Amino acid sequence: MAGAPDLTPYSFDALLGRVAHEWQNRRRVFDLPTARFWSPHPETDLSMDFLGRPAATPVGPAAGPHSQMAQNIVLGWLAGARLFELKTVQVLDDLEIGRPCIDMETIGFNIEWSQELKVRESLEEYVKASMAIEILSRWDPIRELVGPDPGPHVFDMSVGYDLEGIKTDTVANFIDSLANASNEIERLRPMIPKPFAEFRDIDFPTCVADTVTVSTFHGCPPDEIEAIAKHLMTRHGLDVIIKLNPTLLGFGDVVEILQETLGYEHIRLNRHVFPDDLLFERGVELISELREFARQQGRRFGIKLTNTLVVDNDKGWMPDDPMYLSGPPLHVLATTLLDELLSAMPDVFKVAGHTGDVQVTFSAGVTRENLSTTVGMGVAPATLSSDLLKPGGYGRLEPMLRKLTGDMRAAGVRNLADWHHYKWLEARAAGYRGPVEAHMRAILDGPELELYSYAGNQKKLRRVDHELQMWGCVACNFCVTVCPNDAFFNISTPDDSGLDGRQQYMVLAELCNECGNCMTFCPEDGDPAQVKPKLFLTKERFDMAEGQGFLLRVENGRFDVVSKPESESETVRLISVINNEEGIPVGV
Ligand SMILES: Cc1cc2nc3c(=O)[nH]c(=O)nc-3n(C[C@H](O)[C@H](O)[C@H](O)COP(=O)(O)O)c2cc1C
Ligand code: SF4
Ligand code: SF4
Repeated sequence: MAGAPDLTPYSFDALLGRVAHEWQNRRRVFDLPTARFWSPHPETDLSMDFLGRPAATPVGPAAGPHSQMAQNIVLGWLAGARLFELKTVQVLDDLEIGRPCIDMETIGFNIEWSQELKVRESLEEYVKASMAIEILSRWDPIRELVGPDPGPHVFDMSVGYDLEGIKTDTVANFIDSLANASNEIERLRPMIPKPFAEFRDIDFPTCVADTVTVSTFHGCPPDEIEAIAKHLMTRHGLDVIIKLNPTLLGFGDVVEILQETLGYEHIRLNRHVFPDDLLFERGVELISELREFARQQGRRFGIKLTNTLVVDNDKGWMPDDPMYLSGPPLHVLATTLLDELLSAMPDVFKVAGHTGDVQVTFSAGVTRENLSTTVGMGVAPATLSSDLLKPGGYGRLEPMLRKLTGDMRAAGVRNLADWHHYKWLEARAAGYRGPVEAHMRAILDGPELELYSYAGNQKKLRRVDHELQMWGCVACNFCVTVCPNDAFFNISTPDDSGLDGRQQYMVLAELCNECGNCMTFCPEDGDPAQVKPKLFLTKERFDMAEGQGFLLRVENGRFDVVSKPESESETVRLISVINNEEGIPVGV
């Protein structure tokens, strides 16, 4: 298994220092251009209810690379996310994940099945993100850009993968400390740097998260899932969502949809893993039992459709086997699963046309093209990973929300409840049981098939015949936007540097976990995360790192540089670039 560097989150003062510095010099926050900040339409209410808590929009990152570090969560919030399924935390926090671990070349595959931070670091990241959002929502420079009232948001924690681990002091303390983060907030409060000093005394919400989505790993026995949900409701007093796997559809249905209808004949499914997962009948029983248990406990309960689909890794680009499929084909599997559950359990779920109370949240191939229809089914929220890993990154959320707003306005509706009703009437008029069946049929019977099929998703990325170099490149900016951690940034090439190209690209090495996503999208031949200058802020990480790198030290507001391997010419080049008028996105 290939090794990977530890992610080293920036301290709270460095993180906020970066925001102030970047805003002053480039009018961006974490590389997000202001045109991609979400500002709600004054007459269209996109708010939704999540287990009794309000969220101002029905979208956000699914548990994964976009909800692990504080800057990722802040980026999602700026772009319009209001529901955050935080990266899954489990007790085994020193596992080595093979690299690269993300393959978004066509649909979506990954092998990133566990958090990369220590549990205590995850706690700190989530609290830092919560505090940073409170600060930025009050910060004058961006007030107009995010609207006078950015509205409420919800952090939904995610835990896995077995009861024994969830019961450990480490995970129990993590859960309790998110539900009441007072200590963590008071520890971080003095670190709020000077540019944000006016916010040092604000009342930060002490409850960062008091709902949880249980990520059930493939092969997790049904009784274990049930016991975990009950434990979280009783021991921690949490409202609970169970994230279900697409294997619930059964091997035959998955083969039929994925391979026969959608044409992904080359994707190899392992028949033997299906019986180890929850089967449909047991799934129905489990939902009924947990719904009743939650009612008795005065708690809320829901399901999430779906986690990724386990498939054989025969591509070999990522080192581990199996790998996990996401993106467009998963959307079809999850919609079909929802349709089957609605038929098997009428009026149990809180979706359009049903009077039930079991919340259905969705994470499966949501895109700008299908967000309106997805949300129109009554599922809430629609969370996503794969689409945000494509060029544009977090900046893809704002156009999605704008399209949803536009579709609602074109239909003459002003809030999501009316949008559900509108989609319900539309589906019934077309002869369907409701909007879920209408959506599913529109895909399976043809009109929308191409968005999800192999034929519509096999196009390879454009390449240029040029080996990537440390300085200069076609400057497509993809490495900046596809990086979930905002580890990449660009800087204008100073006139007197003698370097080719308008822009130079660099990577903040402590924030890079070598996931491989920038390598996938870079049109030149090479791995940007290895070839472009790697900037280190900590000597320890610099000393440990293999390959080239530059240690930055700030002296009197200017950068001093040590290079590895020692090279005077590269050091001079770097100094010339980073000391230009824009500075680099690091607080100095
Ligand atoms: C790189 C990557 C990492 C993920 N990590 C997690 C995780 O830690 N916990 C989890 O429950 N789901 C995880 N997922 C699954 C997503 O939360 C989501 O359910 C799935 O990707 C389907 O959504 P999508 O089609 O929009 O990607 C991950 C997905 C990806 C692509
Ligand atoms: S810089 Fe590239 S490899 Fe590193 S985290 Fe970002 S996308 Fe992944
Ligand atoms: S390094 Fe690659 S992805 Fe990044 S800007 Fe240059 S060509 Fe584009």
